[in-house]
Amino acid sequence: MPIQYLADQRVFRLDTPHTSYLIALADAEGFVGHLYYGPRLPEGEDLRALLRLDEKPEPPSRLERERAGFYDAFPFEYPAFGGGNFRTCCARVRSAAGGCGCTLFYEDHAIRPGKPALPGLPACFGSEQECETLELYCTDPALGLRVTLRYTVFTDVDAVCRSVRFENRSAQLLTLEAALSAGIELDDFDGDLITLHGSWAREREIDRRPLAAGRQSVYSARGISSHQHTPFLALAEHSATQTQGACLGMTLVYSGNFLAEAELDAFDRARAVIGIHPEGFGWRLAPGESFDTPEAILAFSESGLGGMTRAFHDVLRRHLIRGQAKHRYSLVNSWEASYFAFDHDSLLQLGREAAAEGIELLVVDDGWFGRRDDDNSSLGDWVVNEEKLPGGLARLGRELNEMGVRLGIWLEPEMVSPDSELYRAHPDYAMAIPGRAPTLARNQLLLDLARPEVRDCVWRQIEAVLRSAPIDYVKWDMNRPITDLYSAALPPERQGEAAHRYMLGVYELQERLVSAFPHILLENCCSGGGRFDAGMLYYSPQIWASDNAEAIDRLAIQEGTALVFPLSSMGAHVAACPSHTNGRVTPFATRGQVALPGGFGYELDLAKLPGEDRALIRGQLGDYRRYGPLLHEGDYYRLASAAQNHAYDAYMVVAKDKSRALVNLVQVRSRSQRRAARLALPGLCEEARYKNEATGEVRTGRGWRCGGLLLPVLEQDFTGQLIPLVRVG
Ligand code: DGJ
Repeated sequence: MPIQYLADQRVFRLDTPHTSYLIALADAEGFVGHLYYGPRLPEGEDLRALLRLDEKPEPPSRLERERAGFYDAFPFEYPAFGGGNFRTCCARVRSAAGGCGCTLFYEDHAIRPGKPALPGLPACFGSEQECETLELYCTDPALGLRVTLRYTVFTDVDAVCRSVRFENRSAQLLTLEAALSAGIELDDFDGDLITLHGSWAREREIDRRPLAAGRQSVYSARGISSHQHTPFLALAEHSATQTQGACLGMTLVYSGNFLAEAELDAFDRARAVIGIHPEGFGWRLAPGESFDTPEAILAFSESGLGGMTRAFHDVLRRHLIRGQAKHRYSLVNSWEASYFAFDHDSLLQLGREAAAEGIELLVVDDGWFGRRDDDNSSLGDWVVNEEKLPGGLARLGRELNEMGVRLGIWLEPEMVSPDSELYRAHPDYAMAIPGRAPTLARNQLLLDLARPEVRDCVWRQIEAVLRSAPIDYVKWDMNRPITDLYSAALPPERQGEAAHRYMLGVYELQERLVSAFPHILLENCCSGGGRFDAGMLYYSPQIWASDNAEAIDRLAIQEGTALVFPLSSMGAHVAACPSHTNGRVTPFATRGQVALPGGFGYELDLAKLPGEDRALIRGQLGDYRRYGPLLHEGDYYRLASAAQNHAYDAYMVVAKDKSRALVNLVQVRSRSQRRAARLALPGLCEEARYKNEATGEVRTGRGWRCGGLLLPVLEQDFTGQLIPLVRVG
């Protein structure tokens, strides 16, 4: 059984294949304490001493006069602000009288097979055979508040899912001022904090620094999970590498405002929390009402960052990304090919070029609707521009299909342009704070998707478009942050709910889309990678990783993204050259190699390609067919980071059955007077023999790991090589 209640110890024990997670009940009052999260423990192990109940400050049953000191010291499993719990907290609850204090005591628990869904929220799933869920019912009797701490562990992945339900069982109004999804406490922590940060076109670079005394956080208050920070943090031993050392990561299945914070306190305890950002958040719970937090996913590994990464990849692919098994079309996208300047004939021509190469799908990006000839108008008017596309998407789709090419389209359903029919008819549908002109971004405004009638209006339009033509792919874009947070659906005292209700509205719309059109491959996008998170991956198996598709910059973006998210989740294209983002000139082959692991495509005008580049497309598509399944489903090992060594970037993906592997090496800078670098290749079956198909060399898995691969010496910058290994004998 993955979850046990050890009554003699008063400990809940949650096991994954290689980890154990322990929660202890303490003292007569039933404080719920975090006891342990780390390598799997032998059966019967008793770690209760780690609660330090014999140290000062003693529990209230022994020393009532120092209750506040105990609250300040006790490793609460889900710390709520009040009563001396001063450190970073997960919950903050205000009573009707205006006081803010909350202490949770154990009341009861249930252990059930399977995993219940979270109403309206994306969350991991698993059958009764695959997972078990613990519900810990806690109460604050003074508030009349019940808090259910939910934990799910799976039999096949090293991850723990956590979420929390608040229920107001009192007769008074309660306000949640903070309701985070999970907190974790690490005793005697001397290690690093790892986060992902960036900007538009430079998303998710890895940031690693020692966790210092005090609070350190990453967050978003932009209404989207953001380009700047990712809902993720990890705490790792200073010495943790890709292959060894303890490493604990947390990510959030959520796409809006978030906080991921770690605090190192006076006793060297690290407390890390993740959840909806409390800033601007306030959820009113009337008597009888409840609130569910988004889900947090925790992954621990003693095999370093690589172990944590593979745990995240596995849990996301197997238990979160519903479309994981969908065919990922090779595609050509019209955006960098022609921006807004296309019509039926030019698209058909692009389709013809695609068909000639064997590219499976053409995406008509921004510009096919309303009067959209630039980014100043028509968002919200999801009606085909018949001047550009006579016969509409139906004709275009039919004619493309006749060539053997499928049709995909771009949508930005969350937006309205001030210059649009929708805005002229319903200016109130746009989000705005009464008395203030809403702030424009890209000359557009957000629709108030917290309002059901606004969602219905958008849905009616996009449903009609999707039914009108043979559409097999949708790119759902979102190109601005929320600046004027206010929902006309809510009374003034409930405006603290607006950001989360907006997010629930987006999720509801995406749910409608994937349910009504199960055949469509949905790709999320947010000015590139501004909403790259596990929440979005529940609806779309891939997300456009960045508007920066330039191969060398993409190395760092994809390396950072892959720290948490599987390669299969990244939209990655061969873009035009010189790069439209940074002007860099890179070889076509290298661009293909960098884009290969993701949802692969081209973002350029195929007709304008030089002949020698064009001649490489068939080979690249062949690589995508040959290696795509391995890269999308296998185990990822980061071998070298150009972000660190400034010379070359390499990762390896090993098939789950260890029958084959692929090393993807890109040299960023050639170096004079250097000998071939040697990279240990982990992850292969130690005893089996593997042939390096590039050189013919055969060694055992152990030989490749211990002896390492001598990297081919490449003479130029921005070159690369794929190195396949296959099991022989
Ligand atoms: C931002 C996206 O990231 C681009 O790929 C493109 O779709 C544009 N929006 C279109 O406006």
